[in-house]
Amino acid sequence: MNNNFIIRNETPDDYRTVENLTREAFWNVYKEGADEHYFVHVMRSHEDFIPELAFVIEKDGQIIGNVMYTKAKLVDEKGEEKVILSFGPLCVHPDFQRHHYGRALLEYSFEKAKEMGYDVIAIFGNPANYVGCGFKSCRRYNVCLDGDYFPTPLLVNELKEGALDGRRWYYHESSASAPCADVEAVEKFDSTFPPKKKEWKPSQEEFYIYSHSSVNG
Ligand SMILES: CC(C)(COP(=O)(O)OP(=O)(O)OC[C@H]1O[C@@H](n2cnc3c(N)ncnc32)[C@H](O)[C@@H]1OP(=O)(O)O)[C@@H](O)C(=O)NCCC(=O)NCCS
Repeated sequence: MNNNFIIRNETPDDYRTVENLTREAFWNVYKEGADEHYFVHVMRSHEDFIPELAFVIEKDGQIIGNVMYTKAKLVDEKGEEKVILSFGPLCVHPDFQRHHYGRALLEYSFEKAKEMGYDVIAIFGNPANYVGCGFKSCRRYNVCLDGDYFPTPLLVNELKEGALDGRRWYYHESSASAPCADVEAVEKFDSTFPPKKKEWKPSQEEFYIYSHSSVNG
């Protein structure tokens, strides 16, 4: 990576480029095909979407990566709620991956999130992608799902140390991704892009393994 890049807010003119980029980056990684470009498309009109935290990274005038955030919440055992952030999709074009552009997007957006007053980010993701950028297992912060379940891919980043103070928290993600369950809508949207071959990749099995695993203390 050199310093020849800029990070800026996404604008409506970028929407289709970002959706295409997302499709390219996610295609066949977690499933045969992808639905993350549809997620990007519908997320922008969801009430939890935070446009101020939608960023693109541009190199030589071309968008090569992006990140988008939504609000999520933690609820403690007394029912007290805390608004936090979640991000995703996050992607870098396959031609530019592993050159720290993803890290640059995350570090930049963390600073902006802090300026907006947020102090915690929780995501579901491959730990390998995020442990180098400040994320730890949800178990370390006592953050779990209903049923006291601590999923391996549930990762937490305290932007302000001590923000979670050790008490038990239950994570509730935004409903922004719910439309992706509509397979027909995903297919219809995907058909507006150039045809692309769906195929199996080992990363899909890796995803199956960690997304069906938990951290048991
Ligand atoms: C995940 C993604 C956004 C990372 O962006 P990137 O620019 O390639 O990542 P970076 O070069 O900034 O890497 C940051 C750290 O993440 C880790 N990392 C990144 N890609 C990794 C991979 N494929 N396997 C293991 N670790 C990885 C490394 O620890 C790396 O730090 P290091 O190189 O100093 O050790 C990008 O690879 C991508 O778009 N992937 C496809 C879509 C996707 O999976 N998005 C995330 C959804 S959970």
